[in-house]
Amino acid sequence: MARGWWRDAVLYQIYVRSFADGNGDGVGDLPGVLDRLPHVRDLGADAIWLNPFYRSPMADGGYDVADPRDVDPLFGTLDDADRVFERAHDLGLKVVVDIVPNHTSHRHTWFVAALAAGPGSAQRARFLFRDGRGPGGAEPPNNWLSQFGGPAWTRITEPDGSPGQWYLHLYAPEQPDLNWRNLEVRCEYLSILRFWLDRGVDGFRVDVAHGLVKALGLPDVPAGVPQGWEGRLGHPLPYWDQPEVHDVYRTWRRLLDSYADPDARIGVAEAWGPQGDRLAAYTRPDELHQAFNFPYLTAGWDAARLRAVIDDTLATAATVDAPPTWVLSNHDVVRPVTRFGGGRGGLDRARAAVLLELALPGSAYLYQGEELGLPEVEDLPAELREDPVFVRSGGALPGRDGCRVPIPWAGQSPPFAFSTHSRAWLPQPEAWAGLTVEAQRREAASTLALYRAALRIRREHPALGSGPATHRLDWHEQGVPAGVLAFAREPGFVCAVNLTGGAVRVPPYGALLLSSGPVDPVDGDRVVLPADTAAWWSTGG
Ligand code: GLC
Repeated sequence: MARGWWRDAVLYQIYVRSFADGNGDGVGDLPGVLDRLPHVRDLGADAIWLNPFYRSPMADGGYDVADPRDVDPLFGTLDDADRVFERAHDLGLKVVVDIVPNHTSHRHTWFVAALAAGPGSAQRARFLFRDGRGPGGAEPPNNWLSQFGGPAWTRITEPDGSPGQWYLHLYAPEQPDLNWRNLEVRCEYLSILRFWLDRGVDGFRVDVAHGLVKALGLPDVPAGVPQGWEGRLGHPLPYWDQPEVHDVYRTWRRLLDSYADPDARIGVAEAWGPQGDRLAAYTRPDELHQAFNFPYLTAGWDAARLRAVIDDTLATAATVDAPPTWVLSNHDVVRPVTRFGGGRGGLDRARAAVLLELALPGSAYLYQGEELGLPEVEDLPAELREDPVFVRSGGALPGRDGCRVPIPWAGQSPPFAFSTHSRAWLPQPEAWAGLTVEAQRREAASTLALYRAALRIRREHPALGSGPATHRLDWHEQGVPAGVLAFAREPGFVCAVNLTGGAVRVPPYGALLLSSGPVDPVDGDRVVLPADTAAWWSTGG
């Protein structure tokens, strides 16, 4: 590889709770991950990213961390974590873990101490406590809203029993925001990074990376500007993307680079707000290594929008010498099969979409279950849903449980070898019997087979994967109908994707390497690319 393994790596996201259950309690855990790691190796990914497995009351699926230096008993022990890291490395997989710096759990010792210590204390200064507005301080300190609905402030009762200050939580009330203008907070996170680096991890996925530092004075959001889950992309807000946040990542980069090979340990930013240059700023050479490309994830099945995002991504990444990244799916969004329309059509589009994604220059993120073509589970009973997005919106928003349903591994009925328990923590549809890893392994035309073939070709073809680190592609316009995305990468590779909704004829580019559906040659001089199909050709030169 050119420089740094991460520049063109394919990272496979493991949502630990829903990957595999090793101890038979119906919930996925680290021993389960250990057991199933060969699946990731066989798939052909380069690395795993593990969602949080730290001690947590699980108010937000583990993103409410009570002790960032320990493993929650639900997921196993620190020894189990070490074993996963070691096994992954033995299998040739790098390991990226989550770090959650924007907030802690309300059960974190720091927050418990802050409640006990009272206004003006050093303990409260680690979080964002403020007096309320209005008579008796009964109104929240400003108009900020929680991503999960309702105000971003909760009022506490002081130790003497009187109505007290308010604390900020951009997410659930169980997730108090830290004060990143406080030196102790900054030092603590450097120490947490060191703790996991010393155990051998290869990097961190930085949760809410754009949210750490809030605008001085915590000013109100101007009237009419959307906030909350729905307004995640787009508008400037006083709690997202403040310039001072970049100082944090400069410090982190120095620490990451101080470990052995300076190009070996990475940070990847989860930042839903910033776009274009503002997003690229997180991956300047002295900051983090990558940032998730959410404009790409949200571009939909639309040729013009995808092309615009691809061009913008390549251009902005080049300005900071960072690898472009691509992502279709994660534990926070509706699964692509369903997003792209559901049913056979949705599956066709999701299969075509991944061939487009994996042909693009740079690095790609896959989310567990994507390789099986799993749809979103939309009919989960309300009483089983756990996501605070669902709970706090009173059921108005479906939330994210539907993309977190446990993986079907084998067998004819739930829990499909996910667990030895009779039930998984979220029920899998009976219809997933045909989508298990075991069933798809036997089928040449399965989505699993498509992902494996794509990752193998990506590794082997000189234009893809570890090919020249030029991060460029050349769009083909000649003889290509509108609504088809076709591009070449050197040496000798073409990808074409048909988003027109009907069959089209494209030039015969060369030898067909792989296609997401049937592709027929016609008269030797044009090739029929059916609707919602992508294909890769080797052009031999
Ligand atoms: C990130 C996580 C999401 C979590 C939120 C709060 O967006 O991906 O799952 O709810 O941060 O930590």
